[in-house]
Amino acid sequence: MKEIIESIKSIAIEIDNAIKNADLGYSESENSSGEEQLKLDVQSDLIIERELGKLQSIKAIVSEEKEDAMNFHSDGKYIVCYDPLDGSSLVDVNLSVGSIFGIYGGSLDGAGLLASVYVVYGPRIEMVVTTRGAKPMLYRYSDGGFKEISEVALGEKGKLCAPGGTQQNWEPKHKAFIDSLFGEGYRLRYSGGMVPDLHQILLKGGGLFSYPATSDKPNGKLRQLFEVLPFALVYEEAGGEAIDGNGDRLMNLKPSFLHDTSPCFFGSKSEISKLKTAYNI
Ligand code: AHG
Ligand code: MN
Ligand code: MN
Repeated sequence: MKEIIESIKSIAIEIDNAIKNADLGYSESENSSGEEQLKLDVQSDLIIERELGKLQSIKAIVSEEKEDAMNFHSDGKYIVCYDPLDGSSLVDVNLSVGSIFGIYGGSLDGAGLLASVYVVYGPRIEMVVTTRGAKPMLYRYSDGGFKEISEVALGEKGKLCAPGGTQQNWEPKHKAFIDSLFGEGYRLRYSGGMVPDLHQILLKGGGLFSYPATSDKPNGKLRQLFEVLPFALVYEEAGGEAIDGNGDRLMNLKPSFLHDTSPCFFGSKSEISKLKTAYNI
């Protein structure tokens, strides 16, 4: 596990360098969710494939940018599922983006998720590492290396609301719930990149990030193995909650296929409790 986290540190520096210097145009391909791939999505994926392929402990990788799993070492203990560049459509407007990694042992589902790591490429490079049973740990890159900064924990109640999905396609109960949060004084903080949006809520002590079921995407947009589950672990270990639209813990998810999605809600306890009341779940 330690060697995977060390490898992700060097991957992060290399992807950050690519974001700052490489061609920002589109490739000529789509990923398995039917989204156009940027050259940078593909390049970031190849950096991760190359670096993780060097580790004997990795049995296989599953990438948002690859249709199928890629097998590495048959006696490896871990499967790493990752989103190489989350929020990549924000690169051309120079907003923060990220990488997300779920490290699984045994089953490819919430029960099998052992640890998660995400990286934020912002004015600084930051990384949050979460293992089961411990508070998430924040690292920041400076002077050629990642320095441990502090554990992160969510308060009981926050002030921020990051509501994903197109409002026109929200269910009326969701619109009423989000309106009620703003009516109570919650502040809108939404960039369109789940990594910086969830990172902001985590570091500012709490709030709610939602990407609900919508009329055009009844199963939500965000992908279970590389987006939803890694952040569910972060939010639960930070003292918050992470649930779907039925009130079930996202950590109980069992994806039906590698790129399966789920509606998702991540927040501190107070906002999740309000959500359950509003949704009657
Ligand atoms: P990706 O760039 O890996 O495809 O993921 C983007 C995700 C996530 O970061 C964000 O919260 C969400 O897509 C926003 O989606 P819409 O703009 O389609 O609502
Ligand atoms: Mn993504
Ligand atoms: Mn991506």
